[in-house]
Amino acid sequence: MGLHGGDIWNLEESHGLTPEEVLDFSSNINPLGVPQTVKRLLAEQPQLALRYPDPEYGELRQGLADWLGLSPGQVAVGNGASELIRELLLVLKPKRVMVPVPGFAEYARAAANLNIEVVGHRLNAEKDYQLQAEALQSDLELHRPDLVFLCNPNNPTGAQTGLRTMLAAQQLCLRAGAWLVVDETFLELSRLGTKASLVPFFNQGQLIVLRAFTKLFALPGLRLGYLASSEDLALRIRNSLVPWSVNGFAAKLGNLHRDEAEYLAQTARWIAQEPDWLYQQLEALAQHPGSPFDRFWRPDVNFLLGRLKTPQTAAWLRQTLLGKGILIRDCGNFAGLGPEYFRVAVKNRQANQRLVAELALHSASGG
Ligand SMILES: Cc1ncc(COP(=O)(O)O)c(C=O)c1O
Repeated sequence: MGLHGGDIWNLEESHGLTPEEVLDFSSNINPLGVPQTVKRLLAEQPQLALRYPDPEYGELRQGLADWLGLSPGQVAVGNGASELIRELLLVLKPKRVMVPVPGFAEYARAAANLNIEVVGHRLNAEKDYQLQAEALQSDLELHRPDLVFLCNPNNPTGAQTGLRTMLAAQQLCLRAGAWLVVDETFLELSRLGTKASLVPFFNQGQLIVLRAFTKLFALPGLRLGYLASSEDLALRIRNSLVPWSVNGFAAKLGNLHRDEAEYLAQTARWIAQEPDWLYQQLEALAQHPGSPFDRFWRPDVNFLLGRLKTPQTAAWLRQTLLGKGILIRDCGNFAGLGPEYFRVAVKNRQANQRLVAELALHSASGG
């Protein structure tokens, strides 16, 4: 099983599905698709492929800094958030990092590849996978990490942490002498939105916030991530990155939030409605006597986690849905989750209805 969702490239031989034929619920990107500004840029400025991008990414960082209310010196850009996860570890050289369990696999993978010890901070199903300040404190005392990853909202659980608890987590990490890295890749696709962001709180130190264009602007293939921190650390990270790791097209997108205000407003309207609609539909299926679904977790973001009743497995469900051209994320390989867990993206109403209809067939037949 792959480490990530979104692998639509290798289903032709096994399932006779070309990438165009797959209805992909396994990767969690904005269903509004590629914004017009980006389409125009790709179509109208081919000369950007002919030139090296600005090695300083001055224009890109200025645009992002304006959006975030920071100085361009506090920003570093990378080839997706994933590159920056590895880079910040290379620069900070922690001996031990703590990662959320369950959580995005790249934190632990990047650390392990750099021979950094990884310990887990367990989030519990019974508490709806919500971050608890007391539990974080006891794990900080127990494991004494030099760096802590948190993800808000968390992938794959879909649980969002409010600002008050995030600020408490920041204080706890500061007191424990640990860097806090908050992955806000999904924040702009969440119920609370940027109200839950730690971006305004860099003055306390030892904080890095990670974001990306990947999910919000549906650009996983373009590769653009960014981080914000102190000027000193952001500079060290920029100096460490491979030169020109962000391509010339992505380098022109610093003002995309401003230029795509209507796209963002439409996104906000969809987020206010659609995750809850899909959750209600799926939870209704789980109530069906004989349904293979145990439960779903109410999402704060554009994806949701579900659990099957044993002995049904997510591998079975994935396989069955692939027969109908639908790809979901089997979460069996997430640390802290078992073979009965799966994740689905929230897409547009039409696609969501198709998913619900397919799943309803199995609920009625008892799997
Ligand atoms: C929580 C989280 N952070 C970061 C990333 C990586 O994003 P990118 O494609 O920008 O490297 C992902 C991708 O799935 C993710 O789920």
